[in-house]
Amino acid sequence: MDLMLRLVYLLLLPGFCISLPFFLHGRPKGGFLGLPVGSANRSPPPEKWFTQKLDHFTSSDHRTWSQRFFINDEHYKPGGPVFLMIGGEGAANPEWMVQGQWVQNYAPQFNALCVMLEHRFYGKSHPTKDLKVESLRYLSSEQALADLAAFRVNISESRGLADAKWIAFGGSYPGALSAWFRYKYPHLVYASVSSSAPMLAQLNFKGPKKVAGLEKYFRLCEPIDASDAKDVSNLHDTIAQSIAGVIQYNRDNRAFEGAVGTNITIETICSIMTTKGSKPFESYAKVNSLLLDTYKEKCLDVSYNKTVQELREESWKSEASEGGRQWTYQTCTEFGFYQTSDLTTQPFGQHFPLKFSTEQCADVYGTEFTQTSIQSAVDWTNSEYGGYNITVTRVVFVNGDIDPWHALGITRDLNAHSPAILIKGTAHCANMYPDAPNDLPQLIRARESVKKLLTLWLS
Ligand SMILES: *[C@@H]1O[C@H](CO)[C@@H](O)[C@H](O)[C@H]1NC(C)=O
Ligand SMILES: *[C@@H]1O[C@H](CO)[C@@H](O)[C@H](O)[C@H]1NC(C)=O
Ligand SMILES: *[C@@H]1O[C@H](CO)[C@@H](O)[C@H](O)[C@H]1NC(C)=O
Ligand SMILES: *[C@@H]1O[C@H](CO)[C@@H](O)[C@H](O)[C@H]1NC(C)=O
Repeated sequence: MDLMLRLVYLLLLPGFCISLPFFLHGRPKGGFLGLPVGSANRSPPPEKWFTQKLDHFTSSDHRTWSQRFFINDEHYKPGGPVFLMIGGEGAANPEWMVQGQWVQNYAPQFNALCVMLEHRFYGKSHPTKDLKVESLRYLSSEQALADLAAFRVNISESRGLADAKWIAFGGSYPGALSAWFRYKYPHLVYASVSSSAPMLAQLNFKGPKKVAGLEKYFRLCEPIDASDAKDVSNLHDTIAQSIAGVIQYNRDNRAFEGAVGTNITIETICSIMTTKGSKPFESYAKVNSLLLDTYKEKCLDVSYNKTVQELREESWKSEASEGGRQWTYQTCTEFGFYQTSDLTTQPFGQHFPLKFSTEQCADVYGTEFTQTSIQSAVDWTNSEYGGYNITVTRVVFVNGDIDPWHALGITRDLNAHSPAILIKGTAHCANMYPDAPNDLPQLIRARESVKKLLTLWLS
């Protein structure tokens, strides 16, 4: 199995609502784009480039770089608002400019101008010439929010939109950014829709995982050294996360982005797991095989050293530069979010404790990363943005209750002007995707509730 797939499993990125959730080894992601489901009959707008500051917080530093963005003005009418889709920890997929609720359902109703800004250090937005640790110091949510602010001010001025209200959208990590943008720059963003956002940074995210039993040896690429604790951790972690990944993205209609394997659902896995007469060992092997086949991988690679080696690659040409190296860095410097086996009630054994993830930070980025340093970084993130205590108005927090990440989300109304919508039975970012014939009634209602809020806020 390739690095990126392994990483997605490993980190269970909170994100990738805004980009392909599954990367494939050594192949351009575009190469796997299938025909979009419910295609918008319209090709996405061309990419554009914005001159951005490298360091927003050092006025004497004048270095700049080019940040990618997209604009769709087909629904815009003078007097309409600007909808801003915030990019996250992967390439900004231009399909979102013509598909998804924000552009297909909401923008026509409100005559909105739709813009999307790619997150620094992801996709084609490269602020530095490499990914060395001294370059990555310019990768943070604070710098990303400042990018959004600078972009917002420039677009307003250069397009004569001084009076337009801006509404931020985002799912997962960008869902948090969407709320934080409103919090940090309330004069620049009038309201936010924050979907499946982990609002609390947390070192040890002991998310519930609902599958029983786990054994070893699953079409491994190389024989595992059972005496190497880290490889054993990596194996357990990889398989646990692969199943968690299916749960996170269950039935989310993201096939339009070119995502592969969206027909593998909790039901698929459960029916394999509960086949009468087969041992848990065999069932896991079957699930693993199904996932490998779906992603066209020959074998499962669980070598910890190889993972670390690949994550250490500092070039934009490396595979890890598709996001693995950068996002892992953000977990080590801002968020934690390590899904560990430390919760004793979960079924995956105790083979990937917190120590496994925090030591990986040190192994990849340097020995100055320790559990203590990562814990204080996580604490700082919550001090900076408020965690669950964020003070904002006109932000709606939308979550799905089978998405493990809702555990770190705001799922009860924050105040009279910042409601929460918790959708029963939907997964990560479900409310953002295009309509699908099998959408649950409560999902359809949630999308309409967001529309009503936008009507209220924009009236
Ligand atoms: C907006 O940014 C562009 C660079 O991308 C720059 O050329 C232009 O002068 C800026 N306009 C304003 C009004 O700030
Ligand atoms: C998912 O869809 C693919 C392509 O249509 C198909 O080959 C595969 O058998 C399906 N898998 C499941 C579990 O339904
Ligand atoms: C991984 O690398 C470490 C440090 O270089 C080494 O001690 C260990 O034996 C390696 N493990 C495997 C399984 O290659
Ligand atoms: C929120 O505020 C309460 C009361 O002041 C405090 O006990 C709690 O730690 C805060 N939670 C977060 C996540 O900041």
